[in-house]
This record gives sequence, C-alpha cells and structure tokens, in this order.
Amino acid sequence: MKELKNIQVLVATDEHLSFVDQVNDAIESASKERGTGIARRTYEYIATKMKEGKAIIALENGKTFAGFCYVETWGEKSFVANSGLIVAKDYRGIGLATAIKRKAFMLSRTKYPDAKIFGLTTGLAVMKINHELGYRPVTFSELTTDEDFWKGCQSCVNYDILTRTGKSKCLCTAMVFDPALEKQKKGGKKETNGWAIKETLLDIVKKLKRNKNGTVAKESTILTFLFKKKIQKI
Ligand SMILES: CC(C)(COP(=O)(O)OP(=O)(O)OC[C@H]1O[C@@H](n2cnc3c(N)ncnc32)[C@H](O)[C@@H]1OP(=O)(O)O)[C@@H](O)C(=O)NCCC(=O)NCCS
Repeated sequence: MKELKNIQVLVATDEHLSFVDQVNDAIESASKERGTGIARRTYEYIATKMKEGKAIIALENGKTFAGFCYVETWGEKSFVANSGLIVAKDYRGIGLATAIKRKAFMLSRTKYPDAKIFGLTTGLAVMKINHELGYRPVTFSELTTDEDFWKGCQSCVNYDILTRTGKSKCLCTAMVFDPALEKQKKGGKKETNGWAIKETLLDIVKKLKRNKNGTVAKESTILTFLFKKKIQKI
C-alpha cells in the first residue's frame, strides 16, 4: 500500500520535463476509461506549464510519477482553473488528489490573488475536494466567457449538450472559489495563506450541540471547546 508520507507534492520546474510523457499517458488512459473524450495535451503544452511554474507534480521518493495538475488563466486572468488533475492508478485513494489540489489552489491564490478559481467536473472526488477548498456550485453563467476556455470542451462526448443549451448547462457541475466573497464574509470562513477554513463557529456549535448519547452539551463545554479551537488556530 502506497503512503502519502513518501510522496512529495511540488511546483514543477524544468527539472521535471522527463515526466511529461508519463503525465500525458496517464491523462489519456484515464479519459478513455471515463469515456469523456477530453484527452491528451501536447508535449509542449505540459512542458511549458512546468517551465512557467504553473504545474504541480507528485513524485514518490523524488523519482516515481504519482500525480499532476496545472494552473490555467482565462478572461485576462480574472479566472483561474486547476485542470488536468491526474493521480496514477497505484496512488489513488490515499488523499493524493486532495494534496495536489491544495497545492494548486495555493499556487493559484499566490499568483492570481484576485482571480476566481473555478472548475467543471462530473467527478465526485473532485467535487468533494473543491468543496473542502471553499468552492461553491454555480450555474455556468458565473464562469468565464473566454471562448478559448469553452473550446476545451469541444473534444468532450457531451459537447452537443453544451452547444444546444447555449453554454448555459451541461453534464458537468461548475464550481467557483470567489476571493471577493471570502473577504466579505464576516464571522464565518476565514482565509489563512490562501487556504479557506471551512469550519465556521456555527458548524462547530452544531456538531457540539448533541453528545453521543443524544443529550445536549452544556454551554460551558461548548465555550471550552471553542476556546481551544481558537488557540489552535493562533
Ligand atoms: C479522481 C482522482 C483524481 C481522485 O484521486 P485520489 O487521489 O484517489 O483522491 P483522494 O484520495 O484525494 O480522495 C478525495 C476524496 O474523493 C473521494 N474519492 C476518491 N475517488 C473517488 C471516486 N472514484 N468516486 C467517489 N469518490 C472518490 C475520496 O473518498 C475522498 O473523499 P473524502 O475526503 O470524503 O474521504 C483519481 O481517481 C484520478 O486520477 N482519476 C482519473 C482522472 C480524473 O478523473 N480526473 C479528474 C478530472 S475532473
């Protein structure tokens, strides 16, 4: 069984160009299996992402390819997508996609702090990870209107649905992290180093309200717990 602790999740550089074909092979075979039709990028495309510091690579013990994702901007950098997420088969189910997406999210927040981060997916795993990062499901009207982004859907088997609906809906769920919205929120989710803390005080109180035996926790217990939580965050 592979272990996450042996895997390094890094911002890729030109030192990782030797992995480009493995990344592309993994993306191609996964898209064939899923039957989405969205497939292989060119060697140059992935290589450029690495050279520009816009890709995340995961390597076991520094040498074996385990996973990948890249950052792409749209609409004059007002939107950022973390795309091409792939975890090699042997490394699935141990939290690696979560680690890669977190790193890509932080890279996106650092490089483009005012951009909305968005994604389109039919995959439950990606929806779960996006939700944890603070993305919210939205209608397609909230996404970039950049034609080049939508051209990426042309090779998808469901493209006819997208065109039929005038790009207003398709089988994918759209999700967006909006930094402006995060800033506005008061007393709720806070941001630390670009990472949205999902748990609000209300969430904590709701969790605490009932003990395992069904009785309501005392107010003093709730306050002690909240105090400890606050100390941890500091
Ligand atoms: C989808 C994929 C990236 C998930 O990678 P992973 O490293 O196994 O994911 P993680 O271990 O980080 O799991 C994240 C969450 O998704 C869940 N999950 C993982 N694979 C899942 C699946 N196939 N179906 C449903 N849930 C799944 C996990 O249980 C976990 O949920 P939890 O936080 O509630 O425990 C990987 O299976 C893959 O590369 N698939 C092929 C390519 C692909 O589909 N890319 C996404 C394109 S949008």
